Amino acid sequence: MSKYFTEDKNFFKGTNPQDLIEKYGSPLYVYSEDILRERCREMKNLVSYPKFLSNYSIKANSNLELLKITRSEGLVADAMSPGEIYVLEKAGFEYKEMFYISNNVSEEEMQFAIDRGIMVSIDSLSQLEMYGKMNPGSKVAIRFNPGVGAGHSEKVITGGKKTKFGVNIDLVPEVKEILDRYNLTLAGINQHIGSLFMEADSYIEGVKSVLAVAEEFENIEFVDFGGGFGIPYRKQEGEARLDVKEFGRKLDVVINEWVAKTGKELLFKIEPGRYIAAECGVILGTVHSIKNNYDRKYVGTDVGFNVLARPMTYGSHHDMEIYRNGKIVNEGPEENVHVVGNICESGDILAEDRCLPVIKEKDLICITDAGAYGYSMASNYNNRLRPAEVLITSDGSVKLIRKRDTLDDLVKGFLI
Ligand code: LLP
Repeated sequence: MSKYFTEDKNFFKGTNPQDLIEKYGSPLYVYSEDILRERCREMKNLVSYPKFLSNYSIKANSNLELLKITRSEGLVADAMSPGEIYVLEKAGFEYKEMFYISNNVSEEEMQFAIDRGIMVSIDSLSQLEMYGKMNPGSKVAIRFNPGVGAGHSEKVITGGKKTKFGVNIDLVPEVKEILDRYNLTLAGINQHIGSLFMEADSYIEGVKSVLAVAEEFENIEFVDFGGGFGIPYRKQEGEARLDVKEFGRKLDVVINEWVAKTGKELLFKIEPGRYIAAECGVILGTVHSIKNNYDRKYVGTDVGFNVLARPMTYGSHHDMEIYRNGKIVNEGPEENVHVVGNICESGDILAEDRCLPVIKEKDLICITDAGAYGYSMASNYNNRLRPAEVLITSDGSVKLIRKRDTLDDLVKGFLI
């Protein structure tokens, strides 16, 4: 077993990363079909309770080709915006396979989902009123906030007492009143306590409180427990994986006890994004300069925060590997460096004080675990072109699954 993820997993399956860069440009997002399928299966089979479905939360990565693979593995999907619904349509998802988890949406955006008969989750009493007026007599879901949260950063904790999300569980009487007024049936309830937890406890606690809420409503058909399942970003330091089997067993127990107690064999769902997409994607970039600025050594790459926003946005860690002439550099001297991008902000830092093999100009840097919230948060800041995306398919062939932006794309929306 190698400490280097791509080597350990045979990620490139015999394809030379240098050839990929030469053909598709640098930087480049590269995905592994094998890993994507493996992660889909783990989530889909999380529990043994039979009426169970995994959504895929496409905000993590909405590449059409990856969505098609996800759907072929039997996952359904959740969407946060009309745009995500549109993309799901294009990937072949049926409306009954979508769940629209709305947050502060306009009437027009709500109508977009209603017109398509997509199940909508409502996030506040005021939006429940709005929905009731727009679609009286229909089925609806409500996102409750169980009062507990979890996640890697304040910015992504979505449950608990300090977030904008969900309907406070104390407001059940007010919810019932609005449901009655518009003859709405509460068919589902959902929650999402936050993103990236590595142990089960907070999630299970959230599950229990949302199940207690479910007991209050007669006609519930499903309960969606949310996503947030973490992946180990610090693999090189030996960070342990979330024990998915153990997690599933705990969830199974809670579900089965609740079903036995209430006699309601509901459909239960989860909605992971990161767990499905993160590890199947890496970014290949090129080292263009190496310099010492006073007492710091900088490795200058073309992976700016327009390509990978997570380190700059959340201070997130991504492991890095070095490829030279198509081969991984897995031995020899190491040193501490600052790895930066090519954007004109001093916060454009991929890694500070990172111990890496001694790097040379023209080396490739491979940033791992970049499949989730990588491309989906990429931008054209500094009028840089977003990279191409390629897939290493299960049979080892390479497939271009999104073209690199062109200079024309940068002026596409202008009227002059
Ligand atoms: N369901 C809902 C309602 C969500 O808001 C989210 C993520 C998910 C599911 C999926 O969460 P996941 O399983 O991927 O943790 N950009 C941040 C993560 C933001 C997550 C936002 N909501 C990052 O790069 O870490």
